[in-house]
Amino acid sequence: MLTYRPARSDEASALSELCMTSKAYWGYDAAFMGACRAELTITAADFESSQIQVADKGGKLAGMAQLQIEGATAELDKLYVHPNFIGAGIGRALFEWAVRQARDAGAKVMTIDADPDAAAFYRRMDAVDDGASLSGSIPGRFLPRLRFDLGAL
Ligand SMILES: CC(C)(COP(=O)(O)OP(=O)(O)OC[C@H]1O[C@@H](n2cnc3c(N)ncnc32)[C@H](O)[C@@H]1OP(=O)(O)O)[C@@H](O)C(=O)NCCC(=O)NCCS
Repeated sequence: MLTYRPARSDEASALSELCMTSKAYWGYDAAFMGACRAELTITAADFESSQIQVADKGGKLAGMAQLQIEGATAELDKLYVHPNFIGAGIGRALFEWAVRQARDAGAKVMTIDADPDAAAFYRRMDAVDDGASLSGSIPGRFLPRLRFDLGAL
């Protein structure tokens, strides 16, 4: 059975592995994935500074979303679905969770620095293009930046 719940702090290591396994879905090589590891590592501090929601499939982590809210702005930091479950609606469910959380907290906009291969997914979720951001992992790499107007729904 698939359920959605907040992540537990004892899942930090499993969440980090989920992020790496999911990111690798796009076919990045080992050197690229190694450069991403630090940014994709969930630490104890993440549980203090952000909200993390998981999709739990019979006790296994099928997906996760991480959301940071600062005043009127929310940032969807991470949205990662395990490759075994891509295309099954988990990404949409976690995106919609983030929208609800951000809106309930009073944020007006949610921003996303997307993997280039995931940008079309966010556009499908009605996010709009809003420039580009420098990657935190790969020097000189730019990522599509998108925004979702939380007043829109
Ligand atoms: C991007 C990602 C989170 C999408 O999650 P998902 O569970 O596969 O998406 P869903 O099944 O909920 O898809 C919802 C809709 O978006 C569409 N969609 C999903 N991925 C898409 C993509 N890469 N490009 C275009 N459309 C996409 C689906 O077709 C579906 O459309 P529908 O409403 O017409 O049925 C997932 O592919 C993933 O984790 N990828 C690897 C890691 C990654 O890049 N994460 C994002 C980092 S910014």
